[in-house]
Amino acid sequence: MLPPSSLLLVASLLVGANADGIYTKKSPVLQLNQKSYGSLIANSNYTSIVEFYAPWCGHCQSLKPAYEKAATNLNGLARVAAVNCDEDENKPFCGQMGVQGFPTLKIVTPGKKPGQPRVEDYQGARTAKAIVDTVVDRIPNHVKRATDKDLDKWLGQNEERPKAILFTEKGTTSALIRALAVDFLGAIDVAQVRSKEAASVKKYGVSEFPALVVVPSSDVDAQLYEGELKKQPILEFLGQFASPNPDATGKAASASTDKSKSKPKPKPKAKQPPKQPETEDDTQSDESEEPEAKPVREPEPIPPLSTLATAESLESSCLAPKSTTCVLVLLPEASEADAELPSSATDALSSLAEIEHKHSLRGARLFPAYSVPGVNTGSQALRTALGLEDDKKVEIIAINARRGWWRRYGNAEDFGIAAVESWVDAIRLGEGTKEKLPEGIIRDEEAETQEKKAEADAEHDEL
Ligand SMILES: *[C@@H]1O[C@H](CO)[C@@H](O)[C@H](O)[C@H]1NC(C)=O
Repeated sequence: MLPPSSLLLVASLLVGANADGIYTKKSPVLQLNQKSYGSLIANSNYTSIVEFYAPWCGHCQSLKPAYEKAATNLNGLARVAAVNCDEDENKPFCGQMGVQGFPTLKIVTPGKKPGQPRVEDYQGARTAKAIVDTVVDRIPNHVKRATDKDLDKWLGQNEERPKAILFTEKGTTSALIRALAVDFLGAIDVAQVRSKEAASVKKYGVSEFPALVVVPSSDVDAQLYEGELKKQPILEFLGQFASPNPDATGKAASASTDKSKSKPKPKPKAKQPPKQPETEDDTQSDESEEPEAKPVREPEPIPPLSTLATAESLESSCLAPKSTTCVLVLLPEASEADAELPSSATDALSSLAEIEHKHSLRGARLFPAYSVPGVNTGSQALRTALGLEDDKKVEIIAINARRGWWRRYGNAEDFGIAAVESWVDAIRLGEGTKEKLPEGIIRDEEAETQEKKAEADAEHDEL
């Protein structure tokens, strides 16, 4: 086989400077360069599969449908990513990764230390099912299997952390609960108890399986989760008790570096996801290392808003025909990699996070609020459709797909909590005028049927 450098050379001679990737912006496959590989894959607590490919390679093109299907089915459970080795900026990186032919698929599993994952070649069949099964197998398992005998002992460990207990009839640990344990690693401890552990089942009053119970702390009553047994709503529920980690899915998987639509630039840079407002994660981890130095109780951290990083997630969360009210913070697109968000954007994010948090403390569910990064192509399309063309500006909008209305937060000078909260309250109370949603924003039923099918195929997305 030719060494990769000569392959690449031949390739660039053949296709000239054109290095368009094979995955479009709407693809569920996360597109990476060296830098985003480091932050999103090598430093993640998640397992990933990464395809190293070249756009001119026939086997890469024929893998695409299966790979995208695997990405959809693994959404929320593991990362599915691709590196276009034909791009100049990626060539040295593909060489370093030992890529000798295309496509090369590598599974990256977190090691003991962040940044030092185990990387192995994926040698299995190139079908969605084989890829999904192999990756699911490698999702780290931080879920304690507890019995009547040792549940109390486990509850007594890491006293400051809330505990989540899944009661289930199954003897295996589902991909979904393992993924949730990864999201809250170090923040919420997760255990699984089988239905035959009669004393525990009785103690928590569990009557149906599976059931998810949270024990916020030793002196607070356990709470039964009553929502849908799906990733996003469970993540939001658990998020009331502790902030998920930075790489929790729904938040971080957004560094789309696809430049297929843009002109070649002399020095291409990766687009990074916009920074989230500071959370108190740091304080928390310091605490757990030095339990003695904790004389005062820290105020409960305010979880940041969940992020809708991709056009797909925006659509399925808020723009599906049956979606109810969502509040969206449409962030400006950062002009430079690593550019700070303008203060209006961080104000808007922190105001809404605080409002959401206040409601959850009262036990009231507010309609969901999401942060939508500027790189999300769905956000760009939505702005255009709603006439919010100036994408340097942050916008807060409320949108209700089912009822076909939307509202814009009009006070561009003031994203402080008081002003934003009165706008939110007016919506809650049904006050004020709503705009009619223009045609074409809410996807048609056919697309929905297709998604339903994809969901039905996602056999791992259950507890
Ligand atoms: C990985 O888990 C640790 C807790 O063990 C957490 O502190 C860290 O933030 C997580 N990393 C990411 C990138 O989320």
